Amino acid sequence: MTKKNLIVGNWKMNGGLQGNQALVQALLQAVGQPACDVAVCAPAPYLAQLQALLAASPIALGAQDVSAHAQGAFTGEQSAAMLKEFGVRYAIVGHSERRQYHRETDETVAAKTAAALSQGITPIVCVGETLAEREAGQTHDVVKRQLAAVIHVNGHCISEIVVAYEPVWAIGTGKTASPEQAQSVHALLRAQLHHAASEHAAGIRLLYGGSMNAANAAELLAQPDIDGGLIGGASLKAPDFLQIISAAA
Ligand code: PGA
Repeated sequence: MTKKNLIVGNWKMNGGLQGNQALVQALLQAVGQPACDVAVCAPAPYLAQLQALLAASPIALGAQDVSAHAQGAFTGEQSAAMLKEFGVRYAIVGHSERRQYHRETDETVAAKTAAALSQGITPIVCVGETLAEREAGQTHDVVKRQLAAVIHVNGHCISEIVVAYEPVWAIGTGKTASPEQAQSVHALLRAQLHHAASEHAAGIRLLYGGSMNAANAAELLAQPDIDGGLIGGASLKAPDFLQIISAAA
């Protein structure tokens, strides 16, 4: 299997013209030719800036969301075709912050996944349980339900997606899932994908996200079904993000 790991920075609503430039320059100066795939997902207003900064570099550009609709009266949204014009290669869909603060449902997430795929943008589909759900023993049911909705709508091209398992209780909290906890959910997701896409399932990249950092990346990435990371806080610091990239090589 020649699948490369994928390391994705999720900048969330952080940054500014000056800071973005400094961060990208620091990354490009040190990243060389990474042995894994690398992307950064920037806030929408900075896509043009990032497109220029990352041109002809080994770091791909990503968006943090995409509209489920192709065009029209959807104030504040960006279509997949618009993102494509700015060189966007990946789009995060269904991040827990969007599920929580913007009431995105499993069906919305499935439709956004389809919208990204229709423009050749790789959706990074986020799934994950809350602390209450984990404590109630519902982790497997929750992530299976979230992924099933996406498979239901996108089954024919499911091998084109990336899945990110992000336990909500681990995001931005400094509490990481243990490698065993993460691997157990990743194995479950892999089996579900196998059911939907049989021979392609092994090639689908499953990222872990939730307080992944320079210190814990290597042991998470050593798990058999963890094929990369979706990194929030640590992706805003060039040395930390670079160390995670090295750990994924
Ligand atoms: P974190 O965020 O690395 O800051 O926990 C991860 C994410 O929300 O994608």
